[in-house]
Amino acid sequence: MGKRVFDAFEVAKHNSAESCWVVLYGKVYDVTDFLPDHPGGASIILKLAGKDATEEFDPVHPFGTLEDNLQPEACLGTVDPKSLPSLRVKNEPEPKSAKDLEEDPPLESLLNLDEIEQLATKKINKKTWAYYWSASDDLVSKVQNNMVYRSILLRPRVFLDCTRCDLSTSAIGHKLGLPIYVSPAAMARLAHPKGEVGIAEACSKFGAMQLISNNSSMTPEEIAKNAAPDQVFGWQLYVQTDVKKSIAMLARVNRLKAIKFICLTLDAPVPGKREEDERSKFIDMAALRDQAKAAGGTPLTSGGGIGQQLFFGTDASLTWKTTLPWLAKHTNLPIVLKGLQTHEDAYLASLYAPQVKAIIVSNHGGRALDTAPPAVHTLLEIRKYCPDVFDKLEVWVDGGIKRGTDVVKALCLGAKAVGIGRAALFGLGAGGAEGVERVLQILSDETKTAMRLLGVEKVEDLGMQHINARAVEQQIYDGPAGFDALGALLKPKL
Ligand code: LAC
Repeated sequence: MGKRVFDAFEVAKHNSAESCWVVLYGKVYDVTDFLPDHPGGASIILKLAGKDATEEFDPVHPFGTLEDNLQPEACLGTVDPKSLPSLRVKNEPEPKSAKDLEEDPPLESLLNLDEIEQLATKKINKKTWAYYWSASDDLVSKVQNNMVYRSILLRPRVFLDCTRCDLSTSAIGHKLGLPIYVSPAAMARLAHPKGEVGIAEACSKFGAMQLISNNSSMTPEEIAKNAAPDQVFGWQLYVQTDVKKSIAMLARVNRLKAIKFICLTLDAPVPGKREEDERSKFIDMAALRDQAKAAGGTPLTSGGGIGQQLFFGTDASLTWKTTLPWLAKHTNLPIVLKGLQTHEDAYLASLYAPQVKAIIVSNHGGRALDTAPPAVHTLLEIRKYCPDVFDKLEVWVDGGIKRGTDVVKALCLGAKAVGIGRAALFGLGAGGAEGVERVLQILSDETKTAMRLLGVEKVEDLGMQHINARAVEQQIYDGPAGFDALGALLKPKL
């Protein structure tokens, strides 16, 4: 690191693409050469050129990002501490309403996931809320993900001893305290400084599984560091166009004992159009678009948002034929394929067992293709066209889970585990690790109550006899099975 101490005047002069300096954690960096390589686009750095970028940088960059991306010479020295205040970015404080100024209610007084979301909405900043809450186009899939559970009725059996109820279960051979897991939702430190570690702490109290996002705001090493010995993590992979980066991450993840599988995400090769997120104008799209074009990446067609920024550099060219054999070269960990939305794809995935040990039926929380089916439809479709899939691999689901009865219904339909994404982030925003704990507590209490009222003691005893899904069955796909059209894909070579 350079030894020079810079004053505000000198740093502030380097505020253009020709010479771009930023201050991070009290140090001065020359990032001019890095501008074209920044995964989030050059424009977002240029907005902070000649300034102290720490506040903007910190919540969205895991520890070690600077060292991984900049040459040691890029650090020119330190900034004179007296100069720091004048280099700070002056963000306009968000106007507070009278409601915002009210004292927070105690977490125990929040009785359901909607109340937790309301508190988080009040506490987190608008950009973060917009990113978490947003979904594609008209939010049809997001809304339907939840509503579909309400169209399924439960069939309680009575005159049964329902004194006991046990939520423990397993997923791909690992014991879990409950069938509810945290989905790989990105950027937890935007909600709370505890970030993904806060989620891990809450999960450990319940024996719940956590899937670490490829875009997490902390490193997998940090997140798994204080894990309980039997805590189960998966790591989400979005293969990057710069494939070296993904290979390097896989090598790191392979070394972490707590990470038991790779969750390869397929439901969002490109992000959907998330208007609420775009409205927050996180980035300058014109610059990002030019940059994507220059890099030969997928052209970006819509406005900016945190989502667009995170998807920069995601490889949209993955295929059944090439990606799984490639992955087998870089990890021995089992693969969980996330984002299947038709019975044909669930069937194809089952042909890749045992490398593929589970699939997650998911439409990416309604954040990718709007009007894609909710997981419940796909579960019913698999039951109708290729029920053997459930014997060949585990089927997990996510999207729209807000109540214990939702969890129970998904389990009755054949899901082995049920994921929550936004709910965990909103829990974090509402109260840090304790907020996530509150979310898991509410859901597990509600799930237990539902099971006891159905007359079921154990998770594995839930089945189709406990639900009436006829109203939904009428809506599911009714065309040909389509297996003939799968052709060469039916013969995977591993
Ligand atoms: C999203 C990605 C990053 O949906 O998973 O925002």
